[in-house]
Amino acid sequence: MSHTGEPRPMSAVPGASLNGTASIPGDKSVSHRSLIFGAMAVGETKVSGLLEGADVLDTAKAMQALGAEVIRHGQGDWSIHGVGVGGFSEPEDVIDCGNSGTGVRLLMGTVATHGFSTTFTGDASLRSRPMGRVTDPLALFGAVAHGRSGGRLPLTLAGAATPVPVYYKVPVPSAQVKSAVLLAGLNAPGDTVVEEIEATRDHTERMLRGFGAQVETDGLVITLKGQPELKPQVIAVPRDPSSAAFPVCAALICEGSDVLVPGIGLNPTRAGLYTTLREMGADLTFENEREEGGEPVADLRARFGPMKGIEVPPERAASMIDEYPILSVVAALAEGVTVMRGVKELRVKESDRIDAMARGLEACGVKVEETEDSFTVYGMGGKVPGGATVGTRLDHRIAMSFFCLGMATQNPVRIDDATVVETSFPNFLPLMEEMGASFQRHNG
Ligand code: S3P
Repeated sequence: MSHTGEPRPMSAVPGASLNGTASIPGDKSVSHRSLIFGAMAVGETKVSGLLEGADVLDTAKAMQALGAEVIRHGQGDWSIHGVGVGGFSEPEDVIDCGNSGTGVRLLMGTVATHGFSTTFTGDASLRSRPMGRVTDPLALFGAVAHGRSGGRLPLTLAGAATPVPVYYKVPVPSAQVKSAVLLAGLNAPGDTVVEEIEATRDHTERMLRGFGAQVETDGLVITLKGQPELKPQVIAVPRDPSSAAFPVCAALICEGSDVLVPGIGLNPTRAGLYTTLREMGADLTFENEREEGGEPVADLRARFGPMKGIEVPPERAASMIDEYPILSVVAALAEGVTVMRGVKELRVKESDRIDAMARGLEACGVKVEETEDSFTVYGMGGKVPGGATVGTRLDHRIAMSFFCLGMATQNPVRIDDATVVETSFPNFLPLMEEMGASFQRHNG
């Protein structure tokens, strides 16, 4: 579902305090993987709590195009009749992954070891993103990619009919690249081995084990035994910590707020933001800590209070990579300077997120500095002028970050296009309004 519709400008009106309970949708990473792994199992996988955001719906369509039966039974309740490892068939048409880097990269891995060709495309954001990081390792299996210059989409991948297993050291910290290689390895004989330079989110490894694959992790080295029979699963998708970040951070910066966000997955490969916020002095508590489906889960309680700038260490970047935009909003309202290092991957997300946040924050009166690999925000101790229009660049997390900023500035912040929020958090705006936020819709 590409963002080809009319942009919808909206403003966040400052002055609200947020109170209540925020029900967060399912985890985006786990939702994509539930559909893809379910489609590669033999039999019926049942999923509850699936995120019904545009990205995941595009992956559901792609699985159907590759021959799996995907059925929606009700809100978040889905089933997938898988075709087994190696059982996909050539899609009749181009696969459009919309805005989703995770969708397209995991799917490329999946079809790379099937002996047919698949053509992928996406929206303007996805068509500008680097795909060589995935097609390079997939070539080692025997797949051949023809894309636009720089390996960008639209791109046709001719899968290997007789794939060989691969050893690959991933040169960038990327769970998508790691996962693409592991997924290709599923339909190759023998052991496929991936070595990471830094630990990234490990949902692929955990979930594939759940589906019955043999996946061993030794430090940064992951070994997968190829051609397993994947057994269908019953999956309850945990609530997304990256989406929870928005109401949590909005509560921390809006005076008088007290918000409870129940049942958030706190897998250590995803929870870096929450460590960082606590270091900044946030009034953030974890209540009712427990395990659900093998993942640590807690209810987060966030209350408004003063915060101070800190240095965020580069080794934490992978565990909070999607949270830097909203962290930079918190940093703008904190007292003192926040320095984020080791963040150059932000430049190749749905947008160049350092540039998008830097330009938007500057327009709202915040001083920032950037290098290729770092981002510095000079906090204004709760007094950010706002009063500007910011560009969202087809990037859901940039849009939601500026909506949160505009709840706490001195003047409204106008967001050029609210539709992009659909990508990962379709009920973001009504949820925030229910808790006390105020938004204004514009006609264009
Ligand atoms: C994801 C991995 C991350 C993250 C994205 C989801 C995943 O991307 O930014 O939102 O589900 O594997 P990279 O692998 O490019 O860091």
